[in-house]
Amino acid sequence: MKIRVATLLAGTIFTASLLSMASQAVATTTVEVYKSPTCGCCSKWVDHMRDHGFTVKTRDVGNKEIREKVGMSSTLGSCHTALVNGYVMEGHIPAPDIIRFLREKPKALGLAVPDMPHGSPGMEGSRVDPYNVLLVKERNDTRRQTEVYNRYDPYAQKRAQPAPASTEPAKGGSVMRLQ
Ligand code: CU
Ligand code: CU
Repeated sequence: MKIRVATLLAGTIFTASLLSMASQAVATTTVEVYKSPTCGCCSKWVDHMRDHGFTVKTRDVGNKEIREKVGMSSTLGSCHTALVNGYVMEGHIPAPDIIRFLREKPKALGLAVPDMPHGSPGMEGSRVDPYNVLLVKERNDTRRQTEVYNRYDPYAQKRAQPAPASTEPAKGGSVMRLQ
């Protein structure tokens, strides 16, 4: 009986230390975010990243210049551009996708969630729309050249409004367009 408790305890400690190692790996990862000083949704996304253990440095200088410099196409543009471990992360990407991406380390430029979909991290409100996280393989790849990396579809269960299957922007204004 005593041995069993000790084994269980050891297992728990082992699991706990694995978990803390995993979160430390993210915590030591610094994300540099180029954003507008006045955009509320950018700050909310930064909070979302911090909540997931990232260290975030913000540069309140807008993101147009950096986006061009790092080769993220304006066809994939959103309100902020983040740099992490040599990758480019454009827009309101959910942190779990970034964590998975950094673990997989694909040969790619980065990820993008173009425009500002309702219901994405930092864009929470009463409205929730389907959207895709796109994998951008090379510098200056346009939206057409990307692949769907992950899909968020709140209506998938109801089959009422499927997420856009293509990487092209949805018609009918289901996302908040930039400018
Ligand atoms: Cu935004
Ligand atoms: Cu933003």
